Amino acid sequence: MGLITLICNILITVAVILAITTILIWLIFRPNAVKFYVTDANLNRFSLDLNNNSNLHYDLNLNFTIRNPNQRLGVYYDVVQVSGYYGEQRFGYVDVSPFYQGHKNTTVVVTKVKGQNLVVFGDGARADLKEDGKAGVYRIDVKMVMSVRFRFWVVTSWKFKPKIKCSDLKVPLVSSNSTSGFKFQTRECDFDFY
Ligand SMILES: *[C@@H]1O[C@H](CO)[C@@H](O)[C@H](O)[C@H]1NC(C)=O
Ligand SMILES: *[C@@H]1O[C@H](CO)[C@@H](O)[C@H](O)[C@H]1NC(C)=O
Ligand SMILES: *[C@@H]1O[C@H](CO)[C@@H](O)[C@H](O)[C@H]1NC(C)=O
Ligand SMILES: *[C@@H]1O[C@H](CO)[C@@H](O)[C@H](O)[C@H]1NC(C)=O
Repeated sequence: MGLITLICNILITVAVILAITTILIWLIFRPNAVKFYVTDANLNRFSLDLNNNSNLHYDLNLNFTIRNPNQRLGVYYDVVQVSGYYGEQRFGYVDVSPFYQGHKNTTVVVTKVKGQNLVVFGDGARADLKEDGKAGVYRIDVKMVMSVRFRFWVVTSWKFKPKIKCSDLKVPLVSSNSTSGFKFQTRECDFDFY
């Protein structure tokens, strides 16, 4: 009798865990779950040193919105690292402080990627940089690596490490004369779990 009860209990526990896991996985992997957008961006500076053309000075303002459309899932963003790329080169990054996003919430994240860094630009990237300098608008990619956990009722999931890519941003240089009429276009970011 005791053994049967024990087995039943184990089976029920396993079934409950499986059900919760299934629901979580369904909620998480459902298409159009959490969405990321770059809503605004500009550059105060994006230039190589006059006397050192491997040293890039950058000062990039980036505003994101993160939309969690789920009714029942909250999201802990434990790690969010935002990196700026020009060509295939990562020129700088910033870590966003951890935060929790509740159900059906849209969170605005205001970040700044600023500093100077050694970059190894090929001829292509250097030509692009000249061209972008003339236009006053720079072709920048942004990637985010993050570690998130989902909260479902009182249950918190294990960690997920999604990567997000926001490609082909056209980011105006504030001080440029050529960009007076230019307005940054909001971009939706691509989302891929691995
Ligand atoms: C980003 O958001 C902040 C705060 O709302 C705002 O002051 C700023 O103009 C926005 N845009 C950029 C590119 O920083
Ligand atoms: C979303 O969450 C943030 C942080 O908890 C909060 O400040 C904001 O008011 C929430 N927005 C909505 C629409 O609930
Ligand atoms: C150029 O700048 C890079 C990045 O800051 C630095 O590592 C390198 O030593 C500098 N080269 C010279 C010749 O100053
Ligand atoms: C913008 O125009 C002013 C005056 O015409 C000029 O002095 C300045 O160098 C220009 N700035 C850029 C970034 O081209």
